[in-house]
Amino acid sequence: MIRLALRVRREEAEVALAELLELAPSGVEEVDRGDVVEYAVYGAPGELPDLPGLRAAVGGALVDVTTEEIPDDWDERWKAFHQPVDVGPPGRRLRVRPPWHPARAGAREVVIDPAQAFGTGAHHTTRLCLELLLELEPGGACTDLGCGSGVLAIAAACLGWDPVLGIDHDRESVAATLGNAAVNGVRVQARRHDLLRAGRAPGAPTVLANLLRPLLLHVAAEGFAGERPRTLIASGLLAHEADEVAAAFADGTGLTERSRRHGGEWVALLLRR
Ligand SMILES: C[S@@+](CC[C@H](N)C(=O)[O-])C[C@H]1O[C@@H](n2cnc3c(N)ncnc32)[C@H](O)[C@@H]1O
Repeated sequence: MIRLALRVRREEAEVALAELLELAPSGVEEVDRGDVVEYAVYGAPGELPDLPGLRAAVGGALVDVTTEEIPDDWDERWKAFHQPVDVGPPGRRLRVRPPWHPARAGAREVVIDPAQAFGTGAHHTTRLCLELLLELEPGGACTDLGCGSGVLAIAAACLGWDPVLGIDHDRESVAATLGNAAVNGVRVQARRHDLLRAGRAPGAPTVLANLLRPLLLHVAAEGFAGERPRTLIASGLLAHEADEVAAAFADGTGLTERSRRHGGEWVALLLRR
């Protein structure tokens, strides 16, 4: 196993991260190193995103790149890195925890093993979605576009949406979503669907979309197959991208912005018809 680390200037770190997540959708580790932020991806030698691609993605923000062999206990370190995440105000709180952490008595929990997929619950973009989801009145069908580990789809099913469908272009994400749904004892369907190639996104009254700007703009322009959403949570946006995406959904789908939440440099939008 190799750990490939890129150090980028702090001022440009969030922009670099947004680009990196396109190349490493299963997520990147973030380490604060003062003036620079280190982003690391893990993989077997042939499975890592290619170096020229990574360099191009982070552009002028790049300070240096290092690679190191990870010792045999890397999976234990990986587990130590994933801590439970508490989201929402007291009374409505939801805890997302990995299966290797003990359950907390009385807590409303979603158990997520991200495996190779994105979505431990810890990333700002996921947390912001969960916070907005916790403010909605649960019920009816829900679609999670880019379901990753299934964290949002499973949270929706636990909260009372039904039926819930997660789609992702990545095979590992579909497998992780189905596996995690079973562990949580909720009914969630998941299937492969490439939002860029497979036509319009599957609609539902409630749609969750933690995707990056280009995909959100694509979904806004293409619209939805089947039921038109009445509520859509769009996340994965940097603060300066939010107005553009809100306007694209208003033009393309008639969904208009009702609230906006910030976490770090990231923004999530609640859009409604
Ligand atoms: C930022 S992650 C969100 C994961 C999870 N929903 C969460 O909130 O933590 C974005 C997800 O979109 C998926 N994705 C990227 N491009 C896609 C595409 N063209 N079609 C479908 N899914 C895509 C990635 O595989 C990834 O799982």
